[in-house]
Amino acid sequence: MTKKREYRDDYDDKTLYIPGPTEVRDDVIEAMTESTFGHRMDRMTDLYTTIVEDTKEFLGTDNEVVILTGSGTEFWEATTLNLVDEHVLVPTCGAFSERYANVAERLGKTVHRLEYEWGEAVKPEDVREAIESADVHYDMVAGVMNESSTGVRNPIEEIGDVLSEYPDTYFAVDAVSSLGGDYVDIDEHGIDAIFASTQKAFAMPPGLAVCVVSDDAYDREVEKGDSSWYGGFRRTIDYYDRKGQTHSTPAIPIMLAYRKQMKRMLDEGHRARDERHREMMEYVHDWADEHFAMFPEEGYESQTVACIENTRGIDVAATIEEVSEEYDMAFSNGYGDIGEETFRIGHMGEHTVESVKELTDAIEDVADL
Ligand SMILES: Cc1ncc(COP(=O)(O)O)c(C=O)c1O
Repeated sequence: MTKKREYRDDYDDKTLYIPGPTEVRDDVIEAMTESTFGHRMDRMTDLYTTIVEDTKEFLGTDNEVVILTGSGTEFWEATTLNLVDEHVLVPTCGAFSERYANVAERLGKTVHRLEYEWGEAVKPEDVREAIESADVHYDMVAGVMNESSTGVRNPIEEIGDVLSEYPDTYFAVDAVSSLGGDYVDIDEHGIDAIFASTQKAFAMPPGLAVCVVSDDAYDREVEKGDSSWYGGFRRTIDYYDRKGQTHSTPAIPIMLAYRKQMKRMLDEGHRARDERHREMMEYVHDWADEHFAMFPEEGYESQTVACIENTRGIDVAATIEEVSEEYDMAFSNGYGDIGEETFRIGHMGEHTVESVKELTDAIEDVADL
């Protein structure tokens, strides 16, 4: 689309139940309206060190935290450039894991796919088998924790445990649509890099990417010699150690919003947030079982994105449109080839069972369930 469509001042606000961005609280939006300050001022050091250290505390990690202007996509590139010389194993089970593989190919790496049908989860024993049977060395396994296209939550903890037995194979995890809403003990499971975007389960505005980096991953980049410039672990972490700031001018207003929301996340706690998301998942799961069916393989349903199989053959696009018109709520169709066969509900961030029930009531009304 090349023609300008003038942005207006009169859009209706829609409550977001899409797989991200999700709802952002008003006080978090308001936090962005502080007057501008310089990214090399002491005030910036206060802001950046606060959000980095609060994030470590929330996630319960001793690893380093990097927060950069950009989105999770940045760390598909950065993890590949920082950790991979040649061969990377990518278990693919949906659109986002496939895109991680595409990014690595575009960066000139040799990608080995461990392919699953959409809806299936990656199995740790298959990853072990792929490593054991390979006649090349994999520098990295690139996994996706929460396949937002299929609503599958992959067992990254168990995969990490397998990979701990292969210390020269680094484990990078795209947790873009789950971190903050689905508990993961990062340090316990040998995860070398795990990254997220702020607009998903963190419930912040879009515009920042967060990556938790192990000492091993940092050392690997140093030993490897070349890396991403913008998302280089060494550049970003050394800059933090020396100055408590980012290497280039960040989106300061979004960091102000981050600060506000991360305090709320700290107050709630990683475990309690996980529990709230689990309750939402169970609620949506029961609702789907009553009216439709869950799309993912049983036992691997995501805590943040429900992918529901359209077993009744409703007109998904029309239902989305009508729910939006009548209730000012937005949910999503299925992704790519499973567009009409499924639909998706993002139950992440600050949503609760009660707020998700408002959406399912609206769908029941519109689709006459
Ligand atoms: C699992 C997953 N990975 C990566 C991305 C890309 O994230 P971003 O658009 O924030 O770069 C998304 C976006 O929906 C996602 O769901």
